[in-house]
Amino acid sequence: MKKTVSSFAKAKKEGRKLSMLTAYDYSMAKLIDESGIDGILIGDSLGNVILGYEDTISVTMEDMIHHSACVARGAKNCLVVCDMPFMSYQVSPEQALINAGRLMKEGRANAVKLEGGRSVAPAIKAITAAGIPVMAHLGLTPQSINAFGGYKVQGKTEEAAKDLIEDAKAIQEAGAFAVVLECVPAPLAAKITQILDIPTIGIGAGADTDGQILVYQDMLGMFSDYTPKFVKRYAEIGKEMTDAFKAYISEVQEGSFPAPDKAYTMDESLIEKLY
Ligand code: KIV
Repeated sequence: MKKTVSSFAKAKKEGRKLSMLTAYDYSMAKLIDESGIDGILIGDSLGNVILGYEDTISVTMEDMIHHSACVARGAKNCLVVCDMPFMSYQVSPEQALINAGRLMKEGRANAVKLEGGRSVAPAIKAITAAGIPVMAHLGLTPQSINAFGGYKVQGKTEEAAKDLIEDAKAIQEAGAFAVVLECVPAPLAAKITQILDIPTIGIGAGADTDGQILVYQDMLGMFSDYTPKFVKRYAEIGKEMTDAFKAYISEVQEGSFPAPDKAYTMDESLIEKLY
């Protein structure tokens, strides 16, 4: 049965942990979906791991729509959530609603995600009022990297922790169905999880959130530009791929690929009649 925002609410009520991964294309979405995941996020981490930017600032609506539509075609069972890129929702609630609508209509997402707390509550209200589910994102919000001055753990002082709790309450009040907590100390993430009725999805936020999310290239060992502390590598696919590429290159160079069983045959007497 297709997972929905109601499945997320039910999981929190029943104490069942939610699992999410990112995906950006059809074949990877299909593999992840068929593994039984609860949700796939077309993250604007697309900018880093697919497009090769050093941050997520340059990612556009067109980028997100294109990749969301690819993922939606592959993910038939899980909830498909698409990130709203930088400056697609900050100007006004009207702008936010128009762009969220495009991610649903053209990107075929089931929900959108945006970064921020109290400052984006009006945007969350406008989007959810139109029937579009919103996942919020608090803590280290990469679109604000220039304001943070680096990828740092958030909420470590009493004031910052209180601020984060107020933001969490505000996004729930505005209608968000779930919230990502990124790079938040584990005890604070546990506290926010306890306070909120909606599920919290952690990334670098300890084990006591209602669910977890990882970027798939990180957990498969496919992205080596940098590896955050919170990443666990479940496989070394990057190395497997490099080994396979090297084997292919040397077989092509020595002429052992393709072997006869990989080639198509025909009546060879026909060849002699040519020219
Ligand atoms: O863009 C992304 O991949 C994300 C996750 C890390 C939560 O926002």
